[in-house]
Amino acid sequence: MDVSKVADQITKVLVTEEQIKARVAELAAEIDAAYAGKELLLVGVLKGAVMFMADLSRAMQIPTQVDWMAVSSYGSGTVSSGVVRILKDLDADVLGRHVLIVEDIVDSGLTLSWLAHNLTNRGAVSVKVVALLRKPEAAKVDVNVEWIGFDLPNEFVVGYGLDYNENYRSLTSVAVLSPKVYS
Ligand code: PRP
Repeated sequence: MDVSKVADQITKVLVTEEQIKARVAELAAEIDAAYAGKELLLVGVLKGAVMFMADLSRAMQIPTQVDWMAVSSYGSGTVSSGVVRILKDLDADVLGRHVLIVEDIVDSGLTLSWLAHNLTNRGAVSVKVVALLRKPEAAKVDVNVEWIGFDLPNEFVVGYGLDYNENYRSLTSVAVLSPKVYS
């Protein structure tokens, strides 16, 4: 859906559809080069990473397999505690495999930190991360994100997979949600 359809609920567009497409192509080329000659399992984190995974995996030119995890962070409201519960586990066994975690956004970084350790503990040969978006807090957290699409200001963003109450995921761009929607 085009952001113009919900213009009254958005304060500004931060990353346009064209910018996402161009950056995804760059990331795909870098990741292709990094894993040339290797077999790669892409692990998407539901639900936010669906759009990014679909576009990134199709822009990549090395063979990949795709699997998904759904996790939920224990915590009150929007504050993540870092304790993560698996809602849907991988179908694949990551033992002996190269794994690239595909995330839509790193906010506190706690989900990703937990996930990377979890997959490493299962015996993956390598566990790296690509995230389309990064909030300022995440830059301070000790989580190794090899590839980042865009650094964002500390605002409530929706679109391209990101939601507010399950809405706005289908927006083609990343936009700041108007406070009047959630206050
Ligand atoms: C979001 C996002 C990341 C996580 C980032 O998922 O997709 O997985 O939060 O937050 P963190 O860096 O503070 O840990 P969310 O739990 O909102 O689920 P969703 O992807 O289904 O919307």
